Amino acid sequence: MENLERIQSDILDKIKNVSDRNSYEKIKTEIFGKKGIITELFKKIGTLEQNERKEYASKLNFLKTKVNEILEKKIESFDQSEINKKLKNEKIDITLPGRSYFSGKIHPVSQVIDEVTSIFSEIGFSVEEGPDIENEYYNFSALNTPENHPARDMHDTFYLDHSKDLLLRTHTSPVQIRTMIKSKPPFKIIAPGRTYRHDSDQTHSPMFHQLEGLHIDKNINMGHLKGCLYYFVKKFFEVEKVKIRFRPSHFPFTEPSAEVDIGYKIEDGKIKIGDGDKWLEILGCGMVHPNVLKNAKVNPQKYQGYAFGVGIDRLAMLKYGINDLRAFFESDIRWLEFYGFDPLDVPTNYRGLSR
Ligand code: DAH
Repeated sequence: MENLERIQSDILDKIKNVSDRNSYEKIKTEIFGKKGIITELFKKIGTLEQNERKEYASKLNFLKTKVNEILEKKIESFDQSEINKKLKNEKIDITLPGRSYFSGKIHPVSQVIDEVTSIFSEIGFSVEEGPDIENEYYNFSALNTPENHPARDMHDTFYLDHSKDLLLRTHTSPVQIRTMIKSKPPFKIIAPGRTYRHDSDQTHSPMFHQLEGLHIDKNINMGHLKGCLYYFVKKFFEVEKVKIRFRPSHFPFTEPSAEVDIGYKIEDGKIKIGDGDKWLEILGCGMVHPNVLKNAKVNPQKYQGYAFGVGIDRLAMLKYGINDLRAFFESDIRWLEFYGFDPLDVPTNYRGLSR
């Protein structure tokens, strides 16, 4: 039978001289591992005489517990002293001045897209997107725009190739077609995005933003169109009441077509939307032309509805008092600091609910 006392004192000697955590772990394996000292001793129990077994086993268990306890304690105190060392070295000097940071701003166009999207999503519209580079069919032909229509002119539209097939979309209306051909009615969507035209002055930029709306279902009529736009204008401009005028107009893709004006007045040099005797045009709309539905594989005998197109930049200018559209796209950081929005600004239509 092994001399357990000697083994015990050997082990304790070993532990005494160790000073880093890795060595503790190594010793632990040396003692308790598969071929560890104590593990081996346990294996020997079976080879002993019956009368010796009990006493030996209980001594061995005692040794095992004791060594284990000592080792665990050592490891714990070692960890603790490591933590203390770290705490001492990594002391934070709270008297140092804080680091300043720069937070970016949300561009008014992005802000308005967020606001408009949340307003329409509350009444069941979902968001669709289409490509900036469109083909001539989606941008014009499918939208019932005749070959000789002035919008198709090189002076108005940026064509990308000689065959005149690829162009930068001149409006978001092609998303109507893309939405309808890829699934089945009903449709209730908005499509915000960039649009392009050969134009540049204080209120026109070659690249600008539009928001398209399309609602197709059984029995949709102009009353629905009016209700929807009233709702939108009131929410967007945060007014209780608003004067709206539907002026007969013409778009190839709608019949009848209308342009929508809203009432406003100037008060203390500032524009006030909703009331007053002046009119401001804000969007084009109408009942979707049966030819457009046919081109998009929708049966006009069964389904009809309305569409509208709004200039997003224009909405931003009106709501936030910005008078030069070109500044939107000059990337002047000082302009953005002034007109931009904090990233966590809640869309305005939620303000009423949360405050
Ligand atoms: N696409 C038209 C434009 O860019 C705006 C428009 C008018 C869109 C009437 C529509 C609509 O969907 O029904 O001027």
